[in-house]
Order: sequence, then structure tokens, then C-alpha cells
Amino acid sequence: MPNIPEKLVRRLAEAEKVVVLTGAGISAESGVPTFRGDDGLWKKFSPEELANFDAFMKNPQMVWEWYQYRRKIVEEVQPNPGHAALVELEKWVPSLVVITQNVDNLHQRAGSRHVIELHGNILRNRCLECGRIVTEKELDFSDGVPRCPHCGGMLRPDVVWFGEMLPEEALRQAYEAAETCDVFFSVGTSAVVYPAASLPEIAFQHGAFVVEVNPEPTPVTDFAHIVLRGKSGEILPELVAEIRKFKSENQQIP
Ligand code: APR
Repeated sequence: MPNIPEKLVRRLAEAEKVVVLTGAGISAESGVPTFRGDDGLWKKFSPEELANFDAFMKNPQMVWEWYQYRRKIVEEVQPNPGHAALVELEKWVPSLVVITQNVDNLHQRAGSRHVIELHGNILRNRCLECGRIVTEKELDFSDGVPRCPHCGGMLRPDVVWFGEMLPEEALRQAYEAAETCDVFFSVGTSAVVYPAASLPEIAFQHGAFVVEVNPEPTPVTDFAHIVLRGKSGEILPELVAEIRKFKSENQQIP
């Protein structure tokens, strides 16, 4: 595991606003499969058949079965030390925003307070007719595909599928956070899916100190100020320990 460069600890200690973009990699150590890793979901399942609107309308039952399978995984796992470290980091910097591409709700379960969900949340459902959000408890699969308890319309998982627009307000907040932060972390994402993948570069162009945490190189590697090669569940706790030590030694206790 790489050492945490002092330059990064100093930058964090001086930072007013820190932003962390996360992808499937931060949940890998919890047991949630990534998408493009060796045992990634897209190696076993085809996004064309399962993660787009036309496929859903063609075979809603198959898509629902797949989301119920993923939901079961997400509900059975726990947030890992990577998620917990981001909660702890909130105490040591004036402002910390987590922008996640993950739909697994693990940042929220770990206790992160400022989470922007770019791709929705797998534990929520949305009605195609009335647009209402329906919780999991209200789902009735007796007809195979759940229906809206309010209007009877067809329900879909409240996640963003390929070819769909991201939630407008979440995207606006994400751009604003990337444009105004002092330190920007790109953690556990292959940074190939847009518009999320544009955020590290936007932060870089607006003068942020960009840090990548990933065992593998990504397009962010080319311009990041610091690259920490390894697992987020190991590196992020180490990083928080360093900032805690630095702030305690310099009397900057929160
Ligand atoms: N710690 C940190 N990073 C890790 C770890 C780990 N323990 N394990 C794997 N990674 C890295 C991989 O090296 C890879 O770069 O996490 C990244 C996961 O990449 P993807 O599987 O492509 O996931 P992500 O970047 O989140 O995908 C973006 O694509 O399929 C869509 O909507 C889906 O939100 C998703 C989007």
C-alpha cells in the first residue's frame, strides 16, 4: 500500500472544500461486484438487455429479476473501511461532498451526510405513469412486475440506464462541487462513463488538487496531481489517519 504523500496531507489540511467522486470500486471490498472488473457485471450480463429503457419495456420481468438479484446483494453487504473513512474525513475538513455513481446506498448507510447520487438508488422505485417514488416495502410482485400502489402504473428501479439523462439537480450540484473544490478525489471509478467521467477534469481545470485512488490506471491517471495505487478500503483509512495526526500535531482539532 502506498504511503500518503505529505503534500496531500498539507493540501487537505488547508482545504475549505473537498469533493470525492466514487464508483463501483469503493464497494468492491464490501462484496458488491464492479461493472468492468474481471468478475464485473458487464462480463456476465449484457447492459443492452438489462440496463436500458427499451430492454425494460421489451421484457420488464427479466429486468426486474436482475434488479432484485442486485438488490439482495446490496442489502446483504456492509459498508467497508473505505466508506467509513469518508465519514470520518467529514470531521477533519470544513466541507466534504461525496458524488457517487453507485446505486448501492452504502455511503448513506455508512453515515455520509452530503451524498449526490448521479445514477439513482437501487432501493427506490419510480412509477412510469405518475412519477411517484415507491419504496421497496410497497412492492407487490404477485403479477410478476410490480405496479404503482397509487395509480397502477408500471414501476421501474429508480436508477439511470444507458442512454438516459442524469437527474438534473444532482448533475448541477456535481458540476458546481467540481468547479469550486480545493481537493478532488476520484475513487474506484474507471472514469469512462460520461458525464460523471468529466468531473475530475472539470475540477482540474478549475484549479483543484486532483487525487486518484485505484489499483488500476484510468484516464484520470494522466492528469492527477497524485495517484494512490491500491484499494480504497486500505488507502482511505490511512489517509484519514494521516490528516488526523497532522491536525492534532498542529492543534487544528475540530
Ligand atoms: N478500491 C478502489 N478501486 C477499485 C477497487 C478497490 N478495492 N476494486 C476495483 N477498483 C477500480 C477498478 O480498477 C476500476 O477502475 O474500480 C473501477 C470500477 O470501474 P467500473 O466497474 O467501470 O465501475 P464505475 O466506474 O463505477 O462505472 C461507471 O458505469 O456501468 C455503468 O452506471 C454504471 O455507475 C456505473 C458506471
